Amino acid sequence: MLPMNESSNSLTTRREFIKTTGRLAAASALAGVALPHVHAAGSDLIQVALVGCGGRGTGAAADALSTKGGPIKLVAMADVFENRLRESYDAIKRAHADKVEVPEDRKFVGFDAYKKAMDCLKPGDIAIFATPLAFRWVHFGYAIEKGLHVFMEKPLTADGPTSRRLLKLAEEASAKNLKAAVGLMSRHSRAFQELFQRLQDGEIGDLILLRGYRMHGPLGSAFSTKWPGNPSELLWQIQRFHSFLWAGGGCFSDFYIHHVDHLCWMKNAWPVKAQALGGRHYRQSPEGSPYVDQNFDSYAVEYTFADGAKMTMDGRCTDGCNPIYSSYAHGSKGLAIVAKAGDCELPSSTFKGQNPQRSNMLWTSKVEPDQRNPYANEWNDLMDAIRNDKPYNEVKRGVEASLVTSMGRMAAHTGQEITFDDMLNCPHEFAPGLDQLGMDSPAPLRAAADGKYPVPMPGITKKQEY
Ligand SMILES: NC(=O)c1ccc[n+]([C@@H]2O[C@H](COP(=O)([O-])OP(=O)(O)OC[C@H]3O[C@@H](n4cnc5c(N)ncnc54)[C@H](O)[C@@H]3O)[C@@H](O)[C@H]2O)c1
Repeated sequence: MLPMNESSNSLTTRREFIKTTGRLAAASALAGVALPHVHAAGSDLIQVALVGCGGRGTGAAADALSTKGGPIKLVAMADVFENRLRESYDAIKRAHADKVEVPEDRKFVGFDAYKKAMDCLKPGDIAIFATPLAFRWVHFGYAIEKGLHVFMEKPLTADGPTSRRLLKLAEEASAKNLKAAVGLMSRHSRAFQELFQRLQDGEIGDLILLRGYRMHGPLGSAFSTKWPGNPSELLWQIQRFHSFLWAGGGCFSDFYIHHVDHLCWMKNAWPVKAQALGGRHYRQSPEGSPYVDQNFDSYAVEYTFADGAKMTMDGRCTDGCNPIYSSYAHGSKGLAIVAKAGDCELPSSTFKGQNPQRSNMLWTSKVEPDQRNPYANEWNDLMDAIRNDKPYNEVKRGVEASLVTSMGRMAAHTGQEITFDDMLNCPHEFAPGLDQLGMDSPAPLRAAADGKYPVPMPGITKKQEY
């Protein structure tokens, strides 16, 4: 079991903390080690390459270009679909015309496009990874080779082997003084940062129960009917990555990681084990076509921490049911509303006792307007670290959050108790050889004759998820 990671979010928290209290922070892992400042040579300009030009990649690139610390430009883009790249380019260009310089010969399409886009950068520039998670280790490895700082979207991994690989890469990045940000933006919520400090200071006593809920109708590409034959099965699975465990960790990893991560942060620990329920109530679309994806539509996971405290994560993708999307922490003396709504919407609050009524309120967050957007904060924090050469590597923590999420998913999918170490050491790699993919490669997951993909069978398939 790995200890709760000291990472840049806690560093950020600490920086705020030092500013406001003057107390000395704990030494960072890199303190005292002289590493060269990796910064684009000869100019303040930081160049950015976007790998994965979908919804989030477009948003992340726009967030990068909105930072105010110094000159920044988007100079290269990569995707496996030409139309996604083009739409993304148009959207970013519309919003940030003067900061986008991506001529046709710096727009790359294909499975090796990531290399070509990063080849346009100099050491000290930034690569953004916003593909589905399956490709993180491939892209991060190349960025480290090229001496690039990175911003990579959550989740980082869905299985044991790629988690171990990414943990090693995280160390390599730190050894080269490269900054690495992870899109678990709740960690950059100023309200959450203050709440974390209040909980550590004992405002609601010892934390004994944490609860996360994300329950709504079907979302993204979580449910899929048969592959239509076009595009290739590989590209179709990538397009519908919420449906396939190899591509995106399924809806569990993709949708629930934010709550799992920020609740563990509040507890300041990772859970040691999980047991879970889950199932699929509806196996055909409203039009009557059979669903072929690998997801359950309901999950209820109970995590246990080393001190015996519990955390529950309930997830549901079903229309017509009670929608809940918020998170809570219960202490021996009181209650905290962590995310009032969504992944990290404000305000956060603490209460004495277990009823969140106004008369019991101890504190509610007040955040300056320019600090309210955690997606902007995460980029300002990263750019501050790059421009002022501060230690910054969120990858170990991001892998741990991904592992804890996967351990809940695996507990539901197998019907077994899964420990953190089981998940970390699980030998099942969902999609080996992703660094060798080409446009003609077969899909990592093959359908049976009826067009259906292997689904988890709790109590029958126990050692791996399918
Ligand atoms: N932090 C957040 O709040 C947040 C929100 C949304 C999505 N995300 C994460 O961002 C990632 C992308 O999600 P999205 O909603 O933007 O999906 P999307 O499908 O809209 O975008 C992904 C893009 O990556 C491209 N792509 C896939 N494989 C590629 C490869 N090997 N090389 C180059 N390009 C490739 C796809 O063609 C697509 O354009 C996911 O990991 C998701 O969990 C995070």
